[in-house]
Amino acid sequence: PGHTLIKHYLQFKDLRAEEYTYLFERAAIIKKRFKNYEKYTPLVDRTLAMIFEKASTRTRVSFEAGMYQMGGSVVHLTTGDSQLGRAEPVEDSARVISRMVDIVMIRTYEQTKLEAFAAHSRVPIINGLTNEFHPCQILADIFTYIEHRGSIQGKTVAWVGDGNNMANTWLQAAEILGFKVHVSTPTGYEVDPRLAGIRDTSCYKTFKNPMDACQGADLVTTDVWTSMGFEAENEARRRAFADWCVDTDMMAAAKADALFMHCLPAHRGEEVAADVIDGPQSVVWDEAENRMHVQKALMEFLLLGRIG
Ligand code: CP
Ligand code: NVA
Repeated sequence: PGHTLIKHYLQFKDLRAEEYTYLFERAAIIKKRFKNYEKYTPLVDRTLAMIFEKASTRTRVSFEAGMYQMGGSVVHLTTGDSQLGRAEPVEDSARVISRMVDIVMIRTYEQTKLEAFAAHSRVPIINGLTNEFHPCQILADIFTYIEHRGSIQGKTVAWVGDGNNMANTWLQAAEILGFKVHVSTPTGYEVDPRLAGIRDTSCYKTFKNPMDACQGADLVTTDVWTSMGFEAENEARRRAFADWCVDTDMMAAAKADALFMHCLPAHRGEEVAADVIDGPQSVVWDEAENRMHVQKALMEFLLLGRIG
């Protein structure tokens, strides 16, 4: 404890609206440089440790490739191949790892575990997904929205499906950035605005029928019915979520120029119909790619502060 001046990114609400404005601008610059094969290496001699207690494709590749592109290097740890899997206390792991690297990304189960790590770390900690939140993904999603449609302020995002880590993070983003989330989940799988720390409940509205949530939306988005760590509930969830498949009827209820997003991995025929995710309104591949660009901007910000 005592490293109170370090900036961590544990939840979406850890940054303010004007910091997001800055990050989205930086991400656009960093992305353009990457597309033009321009070398940009502000993080030479910096090391990122990535700790994965759950599986990943996008998060690993985007952080690892992004860090190398910026001139730094990475250390990849999993529960199974480190002492984390043999019950070394998270506080001790944090003390040790943060004496050797400059920044740490963690994907784990409980948010409290991430917080305990951060409390004992000398360096910035980034949430790479917990049971409760997935802020890097929403950062990428909003950047993607802005690229395609401009400011998200005042817009309506329809969330269809599980009230999970993605949904809770959308609520935080809505309150900070000034848009609305229309949420439709099956009974028993609701979002948790208290956990998300929502003060202004006007930033979201809940709907029994997913079609009603999609009505007039600027963006329709969903996620898997069963998140990592909840596999035992798979069968019960399949039954409960049967009517929460984003199909072309739901997209038709949204605005004509509505976008479709999914953080991926996706299950065609479950939470989303193939003709939606593979259709003209879907921006899921941009969304995945943008993970790398926004996280490069985030790491640059956490390590170097504002540039220019
Ligand atoms: N969206 C996302 O975080 O994907 P991975 O689980 O593949 O990292
Ligand atoms: N809600 C999903 C997101 C995967 C990227 C999960 O937590 O498994």
